[in-house]
Order: sequence, then structure tokens, then C-alpha cells
Amino acid sequence: MTKRNETYKCNVCKNVVEMTSEGYGELVCCGEKMELLKENIPDIQNAHFAFVENVDDIEKKVVIKHVMTPEHHIEYIEAISNDEIFLKRKYLKVNEPCQMNFKCECKDGFYIRLYCNLDGLWTTKQF
Ligand SMILES: [Fe+2]
Repeated sequence: MTKRNETYKCNVCKNVVEMTSEGYGELVCCGEKMELLKENIPDIQNAHFAFVENVDDIEKKVVIKHVMTPEHHIEYIEAISNDEIFLKRKYLKVNEPCQMNFKCECKDGFYIRLYCNLDGLWTTKQF
């Protein structure tokens, strides 16, 4: 069974999918079961750690100090409220700053998740 916001990867063709609705089926790509990606937790020294600052009362700015080369980069950043009713995703381009602004009152807090093309899925939960 799948759950909303889970991320799956095909280890053959490298397709990545994120669940928007739960189901009982098994995800298959290229004839094989897709891998449920584990959310790694970075420490503050890790290049996948998300730094968040307040722009104003509801706007936040996320910055990740990660390289953005064609070979190694962050593909997208997500801000997800802890109650999982709000999600903003920004797709990034190589050689551009690894950052995102978003507006969320998120009374119960939020977390930042990102996907690195080489190192997988990372979640910073401190907000
Ligand atoms: Fe990385």
C-alpha cells in the first residue's frame, strides 16, 4: 500500500514518482517493483541541509548549500506542512541558486524535503 507524499524510484530507468493519493497497488516500472525512497536526515554540516529564514510573518526562504552542476545537483525542493495539507515544490535548474521562497502559515510547522540526483531524498525537520 502506498501513502501520500511517498517517493518511489525506478532503479532501471531512474523515473521518480511522488504519491498524491493512496492506493493498494504496487508501483512497477520497467517490469520491476519501484523502490520506496528512504528520507535521509542531514546534520547541519551536510550539503543537503535546508536553512530556512523568515522573510516576513508568512513568507519563508529556503537555502541549500549544495553544488548545482550537471553531474550533481538538487532536482527539486519541497515545503510540506506537518499536517500534510500544504505542499509547495520548486524544480531547480543546474547552475542556478538552490533556493525557494514560499508562503505558509503552517500553524503546526513544516519540513523541507529535497531530491539530489546522486544522493537521493533528504528531509530537514526543525521548523
Ligand atoms: Fe548531493
